[in-house]
Amino acid sequence: MILLGLESSCDETAAAVVADGREILSSVVQSQIDIHRVYGGVVPEIACRAHIETILPVVEKALAEAKVALHGVDAIAVTNAPGLVGALLVGVSFAKSLALAAGKPILGVDHVQGHIYAARLAFPEITYPCVALVVSGGHTSLYLSRSEIDHELLGSTTDDAAGEAFDKVAKILDLGFPGGPIIDRIARGRDPGKVVFKRTVPETLDFSFSGIKTSVLYRVRGQDAKKAMTLSEDERADVAAGFQESVVDVLVEQGLKACARTGAPRIAVGGGVACNSRLREKMKARASAAGVECWFPPPRFCTDNAAMIAGLGYHLLRAGRVSDLSLDAVPTKSHRA
Ligand code: KG4
Ligand code: ZN
Repeated sequence: MILLGLESSCDETAAAVVADGREILSSVVQSQIDIHRVYGGVVPEIACRAHIETILPVVEKALAEAKVALHGVDAIAVTNAPGLVGALLVGVSFAKSLALAAGKPILGVDHVQGHIYAARLAFPEITYPCVALVVSGGHTSLYLSRSEIDHELLGSTTDDAAGEAFDKVAKILDLGFPGGPIIDRIARGRDPGKVVFKRTVPETLDFSFSGIKTSVLYRVRGQDAKKAMTLSEDERADVAAGFQESVVDVLVEQGLKACARTGAPRIAVGGGVACNSRLREKMKARASAAGVECWFPPPRFCTDNAAMIAGLGYHLLRAGRVSDLSLDAVPTKSHRA
């Protein structure tokens, strides 16, 4: 079964061709980061326009690289929730047109479930039950996965997502956008104990990152948030390292608590923040000490991509969860995931 996957929920236009939910024949990602950087964040209207311009060449490239013609595809999977509504609509409308023109089934795929699936795509040996931790720009949630398409929500952020906290803190530190990869880079080799921020670890499996973000703001600007940033490059790197360490500690703590509470002996992490080198290092070490298997997809499958969408689409197809031309874009956060 060969699936064409499309992803356009935020600021990446992506298409991929995946066979049987595991063999990646192509994965093309056109990032809009350079377009949004000057605004310091993703501008929805600009994102939609850029998706419209790029989606056709991206799909053509994915098919060409896979050496598959549209009529050789068995189904089309597209992210239809959650995300920016205008951005989602571009992918959904395009996928519906393709499905109608080529007479192929269409599947609506949940973006967050796609991030969960990325680890399984990279490591088919992962078995269930498995705790899944999704840490991205829009989501920070824990699930108990019983199969590729059966996920029970265990907890999620009550305020900012982890990636959002990274991006906001980078903004406070005048580091640029998107902040996650920059903080990761400048924190490398620093002593994370030099500037320490309080960890918020709820008794439940939820998360809260707005407190850490505010602490960084006060630490950097004192009581006057409008004051210009006066820290030296070295001091900024220490603040970044301390902030990163506190977020990583909370993610590791809650992730392993979810394993202990559910009895699942493994955890798979996904989403853009799963690229973070300190998170990868610390989660692997702590999981191994706790006797828990720990899986991180390669970085290019942690950030937004369509291979995870085509891969998960295969399992939805097998389960008969096929959609039709009434498929709609649903922007709200999915708690069902
Ligand atoms: O999954 P993703 O590509 O898009 C969403 O679905 O949100 O995640 C993007 C987020 C951004 O907030 C970005 O700053 C963060 O992932 N990110 C990182 C790293 N790479 C990307 N955060 C921390 N460390 C990184 N290395
Ligand atoms: Zn994402």
